[in-house]
Amino acid sequence: MDINSIRRQFPLLQPNLIYLDNAATTQKPQVVLDAMDQFYKTSNANINRGVHKLAEAATLAYDDARKVVQKFINAQKSHEVIFTRNTTESINLVAKTYGRSILKKDDVIVLTILEHHSNIVPWLQLKDELGVRIEWVDINNDGMIDLDQYKKILADHPVKLVSVSAVSNVLGIRSPIETMIELAHTKGAVIMIDAAQMALHERMDVQKLDCDFLAFSSHKMYGPTGIGVLYGKENLLEKMPPFLGGGDMIGEVTTNHFTTAELPRKFEAGTPAIAEAVGLRTAMEWIEQIGFDEIQKHEQSLLTHILDILQRATVKPVTILGALNPFQKVSCISFTLDGIHPHDLTQLLSQEGVMLRAGHHCTQPLHKRLGVLASSRLSVGVYNSAEELDQFAKLFEESIHQLDGSHSAARSA
Ligand code: ALA
Repeated sequence: MDINSIRRQFPLLQPNLIYLDNAATTQKPQVVLDAMDQFYKTSNANINRGVHKLAEAATLAYDDARKVVQKFINAQKSHEVIFTRNTTESINLVAKTYGRSILKKDDVIVLTILEHHSNIVPWLQLKDELGVRIEWVDINNDGMIDLDQYKKILADHPVKLVSVSAVSNVLGIRSPIETMIELAHTKGAVIMIDAAQMALHERMDVQKLDCDFLAFSSHKMYGPTGIGVLYGKENLLEKMPPFLGGGDMIGEVTTNHFTTAELPRKFEAGTPAIAEAVGLRTAMEWIEQIGFDEIQKHEQSLLTHILDILQRATVKPVTILGALNPFQKVSCISFTLDGIHPHDLTQLLSQEGVMLRAGHHCTQPLHKRLGVLASSRLSVGVYNSAEELDQFAKLFEESIHQLDGSHSAARSA
């Protein structure tokens, strides 16, 4: 893989900018920007409603984008692909339609302690609204989901739904989703996969996985913001009520009644993100051109390199959260440093052109479980290079020296 040629395709990536915040959002290649620009310049119109030529072109572009997504995740039918705004909205859609209409008081929803707030809050809202119960699966010291506890919860409680992230946005550890899906189905529960952190690192095959729902965001996979995907099995989507009401999601409206449109329009009220769908399609085609095998090989070598840098840091011991084995990590590595706040380190590194993330990364329960308030996180994308990491290593040590110095000066003042 020619990293330099890949990097040149990203207008924002300059030699003096080391972008290691890909789990938050990725940068966009020129082809994605061009595809959206081209759409606005040549085909912009609203979809599904008009019969003029531009409306037909826009509708075709939007429908074609859905087919590319269908192929990308190997969904059986294109109407099992619902366009949403992002992963958060996809999870909310399931909680507020499937959850509200199918779940009852005292039914149990299973979550794991490493979930992102997007995969916690919609279920907590449902708990407040319906009186459903939530059972939490813990992790072990390596950050791996405790499958024995998961099995026990499934055996002991009336579990109706499981929702789990495929890859932790903090620990970078891939969850055993295949086993979790199989076990959930044995119990007769449906299972939703939050694939926000998996979509750009690993091929997703929803038929092989046999998950009931799967959600991801375009902006975390080299596509534009403002569009995400909810995959759902046809039989489940069919029995769910619509999410938002408005134009395009209806069959017929009278003054006191409405009927819903067929899938997927039932769940896509209002004018959708049409240019963004074109951008997402292009991002997926761009990823396919490189290929997941190449992407994984490259990212794995970057993670090995980062772990090596952090573990041999001489200036101060680094505590890495979760497993130390790079082959158990997918996309990101989080760490803490004794006596140095992650925000201070991240701000200092940012002045040197290195972009990390600091804070609780929208996972307060996980941070509490790990006994830390906040952490620093490095997350890689396909365009990151070993040279950048070497530069990061140097600036990292210098920043710690500087922060340690200013802390000792403050203490002695
Ligand atoms: N979920 C995104 C992250 O982990 C925003 O940074």
